[in-house]
Amino acid sequence: MIKYLGSKRRLAPVLGDLAVAAGARTALDLFTGTTRVAQELKRRGIHVTACDAARYSEVFGRCYIEADAAAVDEHALDRALGGLAALDGHDGYVTQTFCRESRFFHPDNGMRIDAIREVIAERYAGHELEPVLLTSLIEAADRVDSTTGVQMAYVKQWAPRALRRLELRRTALLAGTGAVHRGDAVALARSLGGVDLAYLDPPYNQHRYFTNYHVWETLVAWDAPAHYGVACKRIDARDPSTRSSFNRRREMPLALADVIDHVDAEVVLLSYNDESWFALDDLVDLCRRRGPVAVVGFDSPRYVGARIGIHNASGEKVGTVGRLRNVEHLFLVGDLARLRRMVPVAVAGGAQIVVAPARGRRVVSAPAPGNEPPGG
Ligand SMILES: C[S@@+](CC[C@H](N)C(=O)[O-])C[C@H]1O[C@@H](n2cnc3c(N)ncnc32)[C@H](O)[C@@H]1O
Repeated sequence: MIKYLGSKRRLAPVLGDLAVAAGARTALDLFTGTTRVAQELKRRGIHVTACDAARYSEVFGRCYIEADAAAVDEHALDRALGGLAALDGHDGYVTQTFCRESRFFHPDNGMRIDAIREVIAERYAGHELEPVLLTSLIEAADRVDSTTGVQMAYVKQWAPRALRRLELRRTALLAGTGAVHRGDAVALARSLGGVDLAYLDPPYNQHRYFTNYHVWETLVAWDAPAHYGVACKRIDARDPSTRSSFNRRREMPLALADVIDHVDAEVVLLSYNDESWFALDDLVDLCRRRGPVAVVGFDSPRYVGARIGIHNASGEKVGTVGRLRNVEHLFLVGDLARLRRMVPVAVAGGAQIVVAPARGRRVVSAPAPGNEPPGG
């Protein structure tokens, strides 16, 4: 899976355990991103609906959630991947834009990305293998990129991995089927049918996924957009339609309240981090409109960029490294009987109880540092 801001790699196993403890047979992952949580739920035999506003996330969803491994022709997939991997690279939009005008990929890899993406467009558009092949390509490109994890900038000297040859791998498809929707979470929360459990992992600050991952948007859209700035961002990043309420300080609390009020689920699991605009206690009050609430906290390392520090245009370190750890909070909202089954499961997974369901108020101010998160 790709490097992704806010990805729940460490939390996914415990979310799977919680869904099982809740007795969920159907689930919604409304801000699915890489789909790793949706994948974990699907592995537990739950029928999952994965949603996100991003085009690349929809592709991941069609590959990992919608596609049934048992129904995909493995030989056809291997033939397709072999054919794409054998293509000679050639100069195109990616090479020009992301290897010369900016430096996200080494030109040798950029030319291969151009060649492979073009053949996917020519031969596989609308084909059941299209999202699977695109996912392989994006994941391969991510393994040889020259960034610190987001695409607002690239590192001045090639990252060592950028000098490796791009390698297409077969994605690990999962058995069973699921559903995928691309769109705005506020609208989807109101329109999707009921599920047993909904997992909500919204952005909590100004960092836009559309611009942080604009290269993946462009690889999927394959529309050779005009671009601007050092990072060659898509011109439509300036368009209001590509902005999310969840990245606007004033709109975010209303958008999140709307989702929490309207999502049709017996149990809601809500991820919350302590770098948010929302105060934890305000969020507890908001969730309590649905029923009993418990909050647990996992101490975890911060995203890699924070650990690398701040650099100027010449690549020199100019700022101090920020906080290296943060607390991932998980809100559990549902009936008391279920919460009483789920909270011990979270604790067994490494969490501390921050708000106990019966008391409905904080029992500790923050989890103890050094309490390693689950699944690490
Ligand atoms: C914190 S990330 C989710 C990470 C995900 N749980 C994972 O493990 O990969 C938040 C996601 O919300 C999506 N997003 C932002 N605004 C949205 C909106 N208005 N509607 C739907 N999705 C949105 C972003 O594209 C991003 O993938």
